[in-house]
Amino acid sequence: MLRINNSKNLQTIYKINKKTFRNFHKIQLKNTTNDLSIKSSKIIRNDFINFFKNHNHKYVRSSKVVPLCDPSVSFINAGMNQFKGIFLNNHLPPANRVTNSQKCIRVGGKHNDLNEVGHDSYHHTFFEMLGNWSFNDYKKFEACTYAWNLLTNTFGINKNRLYVTYFKGDEYLNLQPDYETKEIWKSIGVNDDRIIPFGLRDNFWEMGLSGPCGPCTEIHIDHNNSSDNQAFKVNQGHSDLTELWNIVFIDHQRLQDGTITPLDTQHIDTGMGFERLVAILQNKNSNYDTDLFQPLFDAIQKQSGCINYQGKFGELDIGGIDTAYRIVSDHARMITVALADGVVPEENYKLRRVLRKATSIGIEIFHCDSLLNELSYHVAENLGDVYPEIKKNITQVQKIIDHEKELLIALRKTSGKEWQKIVKNRPILKTISEQYAPGLVPGYKLLQSEILNNKINKISGELAFILYDRHGLDLETTSELAKVEGLAVDVNEYHNYMEKVKVRSRIGLTQVDESFISQETLSVLKSRVEPTDDSHKYNYSFENNQHQFPRLETKITGIIVNGNLIEGNSLQLEKQNLKNLHVGIVLEKTSMYAPEGGQQSDCGKIQIKNISIDIKKVIKIQDIVIHFGSIDPSSLIDEKETLNIGDNAIVNLNEEKRVGLMRHHTATHLLNAALRKIYPAIAQRGSVVKDEHLVFIFNGFGIKITQNDVELLEKIINDAINSRLSIVTKEINGIELMGDMDLTLVPGENYPSNGIRIVEIEGPELKSREACCGTHLLNTSALEYFKITEVNTKGPSSRIIKAVAGSKAKDLKSASNNLQKSFMNSENLKSHNTREMVKAFIHLEMENAIKTNKDPYLVHCIKLNNMEVESIPLQIAIDYSINSPVFLIVKNNRKLKARCFVPKEFITDKFNAKLWMEHVSPIIKSKIGSFNDENPLEISHTRVVKLSREELDDLSKKAIEKAQYFVSNNFVKI
Ligand code: ALA
Repeated sequence: MLRINNSKNLQTIYKINKKTFRNFHKIQLKNTTNDLSIKSSKIIRNDFINFFKNHNHKYVRSSKVVPLCDPSVSFINAGMNQFKGIFLNNHLPPANRVTNSQKCIRVGGKHNDLNEVGHDSYHHTFFEMLGNWSFNDYKKFEACTYAWNLLTNTFGINKNRLYVTYFKGDEYLNLQPDYETKEIWKSIGVNDDRIIPFGLRDNFWEMGLSGPCGPCTEIHIDHNNSSDNQAFKVNQGHSDLTELWNIVFIDHQRLQDGTITPLDTQHIDTGMGFERLVAILQNKNSNYDTDLFQPLFDAIQKQSGCINYQGKFGELDIGGIDTAYRIVSDHARMITVALADGVVPEENYKLRRVLRKATSIGIEIFHCDSLLNELSYHVAENLGDVYPEIKKNITQVQKIIDHEKELLIALRKTSGKEWQKIVKNRPILKTISEQYAPGLVPGYKLLQSEILNNKINKISGELAFILYDRHGLDLETTSELAKVEGLAVDVNEYHNYMEKVKVRSRIGLTQVDESFISQETLSVLKSRVEPTDDSHKYNYSFENNQHQFPRLETKITGIIVNGNLIEGNSLQLEKQNLKNLHVGIVLEKTSMYAPEGGQQSDCGKIQIKNISIDIKKVIKIQDIVIHFGSIDPSSLIDEKETLNIGDNAIVNLNEEKRVGLMRHHTATHLLNAALRKIYPAIAQRGSVVKDEHLVFIFNGFGIKITQNDVELLEKIINDAINSRLSIVTKEINGIELMGDMDLTLVPGENYPSNGIRIVEIEGPELKSREACCGTHLLNTSALEYFKITEVNTKGPSSRIIKAVAGSKAKDLKSASNNLQKSFMNSENLKSHNTREMVKAFIHLEMENAIKTNKDPYLVHCIKLNNMEVESIPLQIAIDYSINSPVFLIVKNNRKLKARCFVPKEFITDKFNAKLWMEHVSPIIKSKIGSFNDENPLEISHTRVVKLSREELDDLSKKAIEKAQYFVSNNFVKI
C-alpha cells in the first residue's frame, strides 16, 4: 500500500505510480484486444464528441461534480447543470452549439437508491452523461436527426432495435401534444408503430420544482434485438428495453406558484448515459462487463487474492462476492472523482457514507483495507484522459482515502462495537447504514427516551435538528431510525430550522443583538430601504508603497435607532440625550466592508452636515449595508439637530484598520496556497481575518505540523512578500467557476451565478487563485513580514494556525520563535523560563484534552501538582478553542478557579458564558469575577476559591458534571 505523508515522498510516489500504470496498461491490452471490431469506451466517447464537433459544436469540458452555484442539489447529476444559468437567462452561452461529456453523481433520491447499486447491472453512483446543446440555435428537427444518425450510422445500431417517444400533451396545464416531433420521426424514417406518446411523467422534463422545462422525446433500445415489435415494453419498467437518449426541448418555465409559461427563447438539452451506451456497443448485458469496470475488477482480484469476478447476480451470487466487486468498483469511481474535485467527506455526508461502505466491504469481504487506494489509480488511468483533474489530484485523493480509512478503523473499535451490542438485542437496527457514526448510540438513546417518556408520534423538525446538531446524525440516518420505529420525520420543519439557524449565523445576529436590529425591522427592511451599492469597498489604489482610499460622498436612505427603523423621514437629535442613542445608518453607497468570508467589519466615521457618527460595526442584511455607531456629541453645534433621509453624507473609513484587515486577508490566501504546496491534501474549514491577526482553520487529513513545516511556510510566504507580487482581481460567472479546475474554494460554500470575484497572486514559487469577496492588498510588499504565532490541533483532522503580518510580525519574530519551540518540543520544557514553561504546560494539557474530546464543545479540569492556581492564565488555555465553547476548571490541592468562553455565533438566551458560569459557580462556592472590556455573554470567570482537600475533589467533580450537563442541553451548534 502506498502512503503519502509529505511532499518529500513525491519522487518515490511518482515512480511507483508509473509502475502501477504500466501494469495497468498490460491489463487493458488484455481486455481490449479480444475483439478488434469492438470499440473501447475511450473511442466511443471520442466518437460522440467528434460527431458533434463536426457539426459545429464547441466542446465544453465537464464541470466539477460540486454544484458550486446551486445549493438545491448535493452533486451535479446531469449534463445540463452547468448550463442552468443560460436557460434562466443569467448569462450568455459559451457558444450557440455545445457538446460535452459530464461527470455526474447520483446518490440517494428516488431514482438511485444507493442500496440498489451493485445488485443490478446498471445503477451507478457515478456515471458520465454525453450531451449536445443548442442555445436558441437549431431546433427539434436537427436535434432528432443528429441523434438518429449518430446511433444508426456512426455507432451502427440496427434501427429495428430502437423506439421513440413524444409528449402527448396535458390538458390541466394547457400543454398541447407535440405532434411536430412525431412527424419529424416519421420523416426521418421511423415506423409509426415505433413512435409512442406519453404524458407528463415520462415525456415532460423538469430540472426541479421550478425553473426551465419542456417536452422531451426519448430514444429507447431493445437489448434483445427481438424480431417482432416490442413497443408495448417502452416505459413499462422492463430491464431489457430501456431509455438510451433523452432529447429535451426547453421552451417553458415552471414558476414558483406551479404554473407553466412559455419562454422567449427555445433550447435543446440532451443526455445519454455513457455506461449504457458502452455496454450496448460492446455487446454486453451488464454495464459492469465493459472496459469501464473490468480493469477495476482485475485490480481487486490482484490486490485481494480473491476468486475472479463471475458476473452473477441475486441468489446465484453465492456469498455476495460479485455484488461486492460491483459495489466497490462503482464506489471507487465515485469517490475518486468526488475527491479529485475537492469534495470533502466531512462536509458531504453522502460521500462519507459511500466511502465508509466501500472501505468496510474491502475489509470484510476482500480482507484488504488498501483496496480503495489502489483502485483510485485505475480510475485515474481509465478516466484521466478526458478528466485530467483526476490524475492531477491523485495524491490528494489517496491521502483523504487513507485518512478516512484510519478514522473508520478507529470508529469500528469504539462506537461501532457499542452499536453492535444494541443491534444484537434488536436485529432490525441492522438496516441503519451509518453504523459507525460516533453519535449513533447517544442519538438512538435520545430517540428511545423521547418515545418512552414523551410518547412522541413523529420526529419533529426540532428533534431531527437536535439529533443532527448534538449527535451528528444526518437526515438520512434519522429517517432510517424513524422507519425502524414506524415514525414519520417532519422534513420541512427540519429544513426550516436549519435555514433559520444558518441565516442568523450568516448575518452575525443572535437574540442578544436586538439592540442592533429588531426582528420587526428585519422583516420590513427590504420593503422600505433600497439595496446599498457597496462596490466602493473595492475602490482604492496603491501609490508610493501606500494604499490610498478616496472618501465617498453619498446620501442617507435609512435610519435605525436602538434597533428600530424610524417612521417618517427625520430624526430629531438632542445633544443631552445622545449618550443612549445607538444608531444604524443606511446609505445609497458605501466603501465600508461588512463581515463576509471571515473578514471582520470596517469601522470609521460618517459625516452628515456637522454631525459626526463613529461607526463601530457594519452589517449587510438582504443586500442592505447598515453602519452602526454613536453620534459624537461634541460634533453638534446647536443643542438640537436633525438627521434626514436624503441628507448628504461623507464616508471616511478607518484606513489603518482596513489595511490591517487587507493584510491579514491576503496573508490568509498565501498561507492557504503555501499549505497546499507542502501537504498532499488541505481543506479550508474556516478563517478569521482581523486587523491584528489571522486564524486559519483547516482539515489536514491527519498531518502533523512540525517546526520545520512552520519555518518552511513562513519562508515561502516571506519570499512571496519580498517578490513584490501584484494582486489581481477579476470577475467570472458560474459556468467559468464550475469549469475552473485550478481554483481554490472553500468546501461546502455556495457562490452566485454571476460576478464571482477571483483573487490571483502569481509568484515564481507560490501561486494563489481563490474565489473571494474580501478586500485585498494590491501588492504583497505591503504585507512587510509574515509570522506564524500558534499552531494547534483539534481532534484527528482539524488544524489551526494563527499568524500575523505587518510590522508587528517582525517584532514578534524572536519571541514567538521561542514559544513555538516550546509548543513543539515538550522535551525542552525545563530549559525555558517560568512563563514559557507555564505556556508549554497549558499547551500539552489542552492538546491532550482536545485530542480525547469527542464533543463540539470542551469541558475540562486541569489538575496541578506543584503549581499555584493563580499562576495559570486560563485565558491562554481558552484561546485553544477559537470556534467552540469551552469550560475549564484549574485546581491544585488547596484552591480552584473556573473560566468559560462561548464564541459569539453560539450565544443565545439559553446558552452563553454568563448563564453557564451562573449554573456552576454555586457548586464550587465561588463568586463570578468581572471584566472591564469583555462581553459577559462571551467570557465569564470565577475568583480563586480556597476549599478543604475533600471538598475540592468532590465539588470540582460535581462542577464539571454540571457544566457538562448544562452545555449538552442548551448548546445549539450552527
Ligand atoms: N437534462 C436531460 C436529462 O438529464 C437531458 O435527462
